[in-house]
Amino acid sequence: MKRIAVLTSGGDAPGMNAAIRAVVRTGIAAGLEVYGVRNGYAGLINGEMERLTARDVGGIMQQAGTVLRSARSKEFREEAGRRQAIRKLAERRIDGLVIIGGNGTQTGAFELFKMGFPVVGVASTIDNDLYGTDISIGADTALNTVLEAIDRIKATASSHSRAFLVEVMGRDSGYIALMAGITGGAEAVIIPEVPIEPDDVAQELLDAYARGKSHAILVVAEGAKPSATDLIQYFQEHRAETGFELRLTVLGHVQRGGTPTAFDRLLGTRLGAAAVQALLGGHHGVLVGWVNHRPHLTPLEDVAGRTRYADRELYELARVLAR
Ligand code: F6P
Repeated sequence: MKRIAVLTSGGDAPGMNAAIRAVVRTGIAAGLEVYGVRNGYAGLINGEMERLTARDVGGIMQQAGTVLRSARSKEFREEAGRRQAIRKLAERRIDGLVIIGGNGTQTGAFELFKMGFPVVGVASTIDNDLYGTDISIGADTALNTVLEAIDRIKATASSHSRAFLVEVMGRDSGYIALMAGITGGAEAVIIPEVPIEPDDVAQELLDAYARGKSHAILVVAEGAKPSATDLIQYFQEHRAETGFELRLTVLGHVQRGGTPTAFDRLLGTRLGAAAVQALLGGHHGVLVGWVNHRPHLTPLEDVAGRTRYADRELYELARVLAR
């Protein structure tokens, strides 16, 4: 193996830059030429790649986002698009590809591998919903960003005895909501993994006030049923019975933009370095994740198309701790 390339795809995650830097520098240290692909799979199809030096990745680790930029590519989901991508890699005589991203990205990586191209995936998504890793790059920073927002909202909520609903990201997983609920001391957490009736949510918040709380914070995952919108509507319609109004804060893409924490910089660095080792060691078609405090390889076959859901036991713990 003489030349490798690296790309980031799907939703950007804080810590991706640390992974890119580690791939480039460990690759060069191992005698490889390293190329950076711009704009994810879309850029790969268009052949947007250039050689990177150790200096090119200087000063990027502390930046959120991805210096290689990212995209969600419809074309790459088609076989014709992937064939074109492989042609572009062959034109540049690239022997192996490191693919940094989340669920959809790693499903794409597996498709490329099945077509015979040597790939290694790196687990990176704020959602932390990937099989094959205990924690993915970006999840820690996103959680800290959410927490900062919840702490601020809680201060104003307490001052006015108000109830607030904070909607967080996570796609089909309740990981961010659950962890933010536990660490932010929320009165209730609503996640896709555990459907609940709006009446029961209202009761939980009423009980919290009855227990002497001066505020109520409800953290709702974007994929939850009922959704944040459903709940706001319910509380508007039942204002007379509940006796309070629920105010909405949607955190949205703020969650993807935070300065990477030390944890995410280290995780990106360790996983990026391990991905180069995997490529050089002939371990292809795998995801490099973080299991039991070490880099760990899982076949992409076991990762593709699967979602890792939030821990049910922790959900029960969150309920107990909300007392
Ligand atoms: O996968 C990361 C994520 O931020 C999800 O939490 C969210 O559902 C999705 O990406 C939003 O995607 P986009 O930025 O393309 O709207």
